[in-house]
Amino acid sequence: MSAGPQVSRRAALGMLAGGVVAGAGASRLGFQSSSGGDLGGIASERGLDGQQAAAALETYVPGGSYDEYFVFASGGHSGQIFVFGVPSMRLLKVIPVFTPDAWQGYGYGTDQGNAVLEGGSDPAKSNPLRWGDTHHPALSETEGSYDGRWIYINDRANGRIAMADLRDFKCKQIFDIPNLQTSHGGCFVTPNSEYVHISTMTPTPVTESGYAPLSRYKEDFRGFSTWLKLDPETGRFDLGNSFQIELPPYTQDLADAGKLTSFGFGFINSYNTEMAVGGDMTGGQPLEAGSTANDYDFLHIIDWQKAEEVFKAGNTKDLNGMKVIPMDVAVSEKILHFAPEPRNPHGIDVNPTGDYMCVGGKLDPHASVYDIELIKTAIANEDYQGTDPFGVPILTLESVLVAQVELGAGPLHTQFDDKGYAYTSLFVDSAIAKWSLGPKAGHTDDGFKLVETLPVQYNIGHLCTAEGDTVSPDGNYMIALNKWSIDRFPPVGTLHPQNFQLVDLTTTPLTVLSDTPIGMGEPHYTQMIKADKLVHTIEVYPPGTDPMNFAPSEFAIKAGEERIERQGKDLHVYMSAMRSHYTPDQIQAKVGDTLHLHITNVEQTIDATHGFAIPQYNIEASLDPGEVVNIDMLLDRAGTFAMYCSEFCSALHLEMQGWIEVAPQGVTPSVG
Ligand code: CUA
Repeated sequence: MSAGPQVSRRAALGMLAGGVVAGAGASRLGFQSSSGGDLGGIASERGLDGQQAAAALETYVPGGSYDEYFVFASGGHSGQIFVFGVPSMRLLKVIPVFTPDAWQGYGYGTDQGNAVLEGGSDPAKSNPLRWGDTHHPALSETEGSYDGRWIYINDRANGRIAMADLRDFKCKQIFDIPNLQTSHGGCFVTPNSEYVHISTMTPTPVTESGYAPLSRYKEDFRGFSTWLKLDPETGRFDLGNSFQIELPPYTQDLADAGKLTSFGFGFINSYNTEMAVGGDMTGGQPLEAGSTANDYDFLHIIDWQKAEEVFKAGNTKDLNGMKVIPMDVAVSEKILHFAPEPRNPHGIDVNPTGDYMCVGGKLDPHASVYDIELIKTAIANEDYQGTDPFGVPILTLESVLVAQVELGAGPLHTQFDDKGYAYTSLFVDSAIAKWSLGPKAGHTDDGFKLVETLPVQYNIGHLCTAEGDTVSPDGNYMIALNKWSIDRFPPVGTLHPQNFQLVDLTTTPLTVLSDTPIGMGEPHYTQMIKADKLVHTIEVYPPGTDPMNFAPSEFAIKAGEERIERQGKDLHVYMSAMRSHYTPDQIQAKVGDTLHLHITNVEQTIDATHGFAIPQYNIEASLDPGEVVNIDMLLDRAGTFAMYCSEFCSALHLEMQGWIEVAPQGVTPSVG
C-alpha cells in the first residue's frame, strides 16, 4: 500500500508539533506567528506531546469553516439520529425520529410530529408508541454511492422503520412493519435505492391471535425478510410494491446488500438455528447455551430480483397486510439459499467491489470471507450439503468460502477503505483489526492477511469508515463506536457516555485522533458521507410550506391575511409569526371549544425560527422560516393562558407573546 500524500501531510504535522513541543524549534518552524499563536508554548503548557498536538491541529475546524464529512449516528434507545461533523466531531443536529423532541416541536401537539409518530403506531393500541431503539441508519444510494437524499433507520424495539428527508433533516414517515416484532441489523438500502430492507430479529408468531406457546416455536414462529419499495421521487415507502420473504424461525441478525458483482443479492446472518427458547427455571437450557450449541449457523443468501419477479407474478400469500413469498416458493424459485457460517456470527459486510461477503465470527476469532462468484456457481451447480429442517438448501462450505482470517477476539463488524483493506471491530479485544482483502480487492501478493491491530477504548461495537459501506469508500477517517468509556471522561454520575473515537486511516500504524463522549443515547451504527453530497439541503422553506410534503400548505397565509373564524365549537385561527409578534396576539375562546391554530412563519430569513408554546396544554411548536404548523387542541380547562415564543428570535423575543382566553361555562368571552 502506498503511503499517499495524506500520510506525509500527517507525518509533517507530527514533526512540526514535535518541534513545537521541543519549544526551541517552534519559531524556527514558523509556528511563532505574528498574531501571537505560540504553538510550542501552548502545547508544552498543556502537556501535549507531538502526536497529540498534531491530532488537535488535524481535527480543528475553525468557526465558520465546515467539516468535510457528516456522520449520521443512530441514537439507540434515545430513538433519534445524531448528526456530527468530521473531523471536528461537533454535534450539528439531533433528528428526532421515534421519540418526541420539544425543541423541534416534534410530538408536542403539532400536526407534523404527531402525524409521523401516530402513523408509526399500531392504531389498535390505545397508547401510541413514544420511543424506539434506533439501530442501523441507511443512507439512500445511487449506483452504490450515497446520494444525500434520504436516510432510513430501524427501530430495534418495535420492528418499525423510519425515513428522514435530508432536505430539511426531519423525519417524514414511520412504518410499523407487519409480521416484525423486533429488528436488529437487517436494515440496508439497495444500490439504487430500489428497496430498503429490514428483517426480523426474534421470530414472530404467525398465528391469528399473535400468540403461540414457545413449545410450538418451530411450527408457529417465522422470520421475515422485508423489501420495502421506495418511491424514487419522495423516498417514501411504497407499500403496494413491497413484499416479504418467509424465513425459518432462526434469529436473523445483520444484513447487507450485494453491489456491483453481487448486485441483486441480499445477505443476512443468523444465529440460534438451534431454535432454543430458554427455560432456565423450568429445567431447560439458558438461552445463551441453547442458542450456541451448533458449530454452524446459516448465512442467508437472497436473490431479491428473483423475489421481485415472483412477487409481481402474484405468487404470494397475504399476511397481516403484507404480500409474503412463502418459504417453499422461495426454495423452489431459488430465491433463498443458505451457506454454513461459524456459530453465532455477527456482522456481514460486502466489500466495495461486491465480490466478498465478510462475516465477523463473534465467538470465533476469524473473519470468514465468501466469494460471490463461488456462491453463484455453487447455486447453479446445486452444490448442496443438504437442507435445513424447513427444506432450504445449504451450499457446501468448501464451495463458497474463500478465506478465513484470524483477527482477534470477538470480531463483529467490517468496514472498508479505498485501498482494498478491511477494518473489523474486535469487541472482546477492544481493538480494530486492519487486514488485506485478497486478490479481488487488489491484494494479489499479500492475499487475505492481518496487517495491524489498533487498541480502542473500550468494547467497540460498530465502526464506520468514510463512505465505507459503499462502492467508493474514501479512506480518510474511521470512527470506533465504543460501548464503554470507563475512565476516558470525567465522572458524570453512574451512567457513562459512550465514546466515539476518531481514527486517522491514512497513517501506518493507525492513529486515534480524538475521543467524543456521547451523552445522549447509545449510538449503534453510523454512516459517514461526504458533506458536499448533501446538495439538496435547504435552509429556508418557500413561503407557506407544509414540511410533510414540501408543498404549499392549504393553511398558509401571508402577512395581512390573518383571521379568526368560528364554525360552531371550532375556532380556526390563521396566525402569522414574525419578529417579534404573533398576529393575532389575542384569542378569545370558551371551554369546550376546539382551537385550530394554523400558524405561518412569514419570515424568509435564514435561522429566523420562532417557537410557539402554551402553558399547561403540553403544546410546543417550532416554526422555521416559511413553515406552516397546525395545532388542534381541545380547550378543556378554563383560564387565561400566556402563549409565547420559545425560540430566542430577536431583541424583543420576550415581547413575542400573546394571550388565549378560555372562558368558563356561562361566561361570554369578550370577542370570538
Ligand atoms: Cu419569536 Cu422569540
